[in-house]
Amino acid sequence: MVILLSACTPSPKTALDVEQPEGWDDDLALAIPEDLNPDPNILEIELEAKITDIEIIEGTTTPVWTYGGTLPGPLIKAKVGDTVIIHFKNSLPDSTTIHWHGLRVPNQMDGVPGVTQPPVEPGGEFRYEFTVDDAGTYWHHPHVNSAAQIGWGMYGPIVVEDPNDSEEFGDDLVLVMSDISLNVGDGSFVPENSGGDFTSLFGKEGTVVLVNGKVRPTLKVRQGKQQRWRVINASRSRYIPIRLRDHTFTILGGDNGLAERSREAGRVVVTPSERADIVFTPMREPGSTQVFRWIPFNRGFGTVYRRASVPMMDIETVMDDPVIPAQIPEQLRTIEPIDISNAIETDLEMTIGQDETNNIEMGFNGIPYWNMMPLQARVGETHIWNLINNSDFNHPFHLHGYFFQVLDENRVPEWKDTVDVPVGETVRIAVNFEGRPGMWMYHCHILDHAEAGMMGQLWVGPADSTDPAPEQDLSVLIDVMVKEE
Ligand code: C2O
Ligand code: CU
Repeated sequence: MVILLSACTPSPKTALDVEQPEGWDDDLALAIPEDLNPDPNILEIELEAKITDIEIIEGTTTPVWTYGGTLPGPLIKAKVGDTVIIHFKNSLPDSTTIHWHGLRVPNQMDGVPGVTQPPVEPGGEFRYEFTVDDAGTYWHHPHVNSAAQIGWGMYGPIVVEDPNDSEEFGDDLVLVMSDISLNVGDGSFVPENSGGDFTSLFGKEGTVVLVNGKVRPTLKVRQGKQQRWRVINASRSRYIPIRLRDHTFTILGGDNGLAERSREAGRVVVTPSERADIVFTPMREPGSTQVFRWIPFNRGFGTVYRRASVPMMDIETVMDDPVIPAQIPEQLRTIEPIDISNAIETDLEMTIGQDETNNIEMGFNGIPYWNMMPLQARVGETHIWNLINNSDFNHPFHLHGYFFQVLDENRVPEWKDTVDVPVGETVRIAVNFEGRPGMWMYHCHILDHAEAGMMGQLWVGPADSTDPAPEQDLSVLIDVMVKEE
């Protein structure tokens, strides 16, 4: 009898049986660039940096600095092993470059002016070409006047897909979270030099918070139907805690693809330039709307004082029947720990001081970028860097060109290119320089800190040579990097 009854009542559907609600991500849609190459393993696109009037605040326009005329720039999506070719043109009134944040590109493609390439002057062009061998969520941005240029809108997402990813993760949703400094009355930019030294010390945060370039867009969800959020924090200074009342998130990974195991978390903090790869399982009743808010995050002295939360996105649960969420696998991949038995250890203290004229001067080990000698390494070596922070602010430390592992047994093993170093703590990272010799950068990704001096260079020499790092013409660097407005 019981068997008969259950045969007549339809059993509840699972997340894998149903689609996302109609138009679920329409409000968050990103531009997709045209692929000019018929080869399915080559993505070849044109990308023009230009100023475009965009309506960010209703009824006003802002002269946004863009890649391709949209905010954020178009979604560059490839699959593991693809070749990516970008014909870049600079139509901005300032020189610029593109840095492929997190991608393990050849050194000449890294986009650092005066170090890996000449700056691309107004009207100039540059061809970037590399293969993408690591699945994950990445982004790109300029490395010239980067605090200002990123602050004005220069960033775009990159996704390198792994065709073997499990379908239980849910449908992909790229969420570029950022902020921008606008006068809300007329949409004009707040002048870059307002606030002076003191706001550089804090790290400037924009007056308006954006998700995929919009103020408070709407996302449609169905109760129980998972979505895979690929969150990119493209803010110049703002930390973004991902948190939603009555929900936990399943963390799949972060900067450079999947972690070894998935895990549940009530809050995922994404520092400037970090990425979070997380599964969101909507739990609210059909017909309800929940606001996803930015919540002040304490990243040091005075950073939460008198600050309110900000609505970022409305999450609307549609009137469809709830479904049973899919089971996310726990083991995601195997990540071998880096062999540190012969590692060369270096202390890098992230310091804040003052120069002779009392201007704020940041650096590593008390030395600002423009006076610093490059760190030395060779292809094949493994290094441990002790990132020490006795300053009054957290610093998101970023290394170009290589993935590292954080040496901390309490963390699930994963590959990273950016890590938060909280006030009063030391974070130890291990990195193997597996190839691609050249001059690479490392810096704090609070870009106001980087430009105040918290940036350095790393010379990775060829395995078979003992020559020291080449002489750097630092005047070129200083010209380009700390050029005054
Ligand atoms: Cu996003 Cu020098 O980096
Ligand atoms: Cu910093």
